[in-house]
Amino acid sequence: MQRDIERILIPQEKIAARVRELAQEIVADHTPPRMMGEPEISIVPILTGAMIFCCDLIRHIPLAMKIGLMTVSSYPGKSLRAQPAQVLGQQLKAEDVKDHHVLLIDDILDSGQTIRLVKPFVESLGAATVKTAVLLRKDRPTAREVAADYVGFEIPDEFVVGYGLDYNNYYRNLPDIVTLTREAIERQ
Ligand code: IMP
Ligand code: MG
Repeated sequence: MQRDIERILIPQEKIAARVRELAQEIVADHTPPRMMGEPEISIVPILTGAMIFCCDLIRHIPLAMKIGLMTVSSYPGKSLRAQPAQVLGQQLKAEDVKDHHVLLIDDILDSGQTIRLVKPFVESLGAATVKTAVLLRKDRPTAREVAADYVGFEIPDEFVVGYGLDYNNYYRNLPDIVTLTREAIERQ
């Protein structure tokens, strides 16, 4: 696995520091000064890619929190470009979303179709607000057209893996965000 890495784009220390900053922004935005009652947030990670980002992020968000899962596929198998996004499954409880402040969490904003699919769906369940947090945003027009409330890093329009992101469902466990060698991409 290590020999498949072409270069490290974002090392784990930088990711950890930025994740803490994003969490601070999220906490500040969900804790208005004279709000009545305890602030509460409903987290919806978009699996599988957002799994690791979500786990790290929420441990820096000390608010009352519910979590519901959605699985969406737009890069099935060995795709290097987005295919039509598809909801593969969801375990959202209507009562955890309706009238709640929802935060969608995804690993990367690329073609934007995942967020464009999921956000209206969560809104249709009656969420009070729906915000989005992505760790990475690719430098391409389609990614910039979709509004994201919290963005960790802007990256070049390259295929990356690690920290939850995969190629053919491999490499999610790499702690850094990296690019793959051409040889690794062709071998899988
Ligand atoms: P979008 O729907 O095209 O914005 O892309 C979102 C999803 O595509 C992400 O949640 C990832 O699962 C996948 N994806 C997009 N770019 C990459 C990449 O560079 N590497 C791995 N997965 C990616
Ligand atoms: Mg994904």
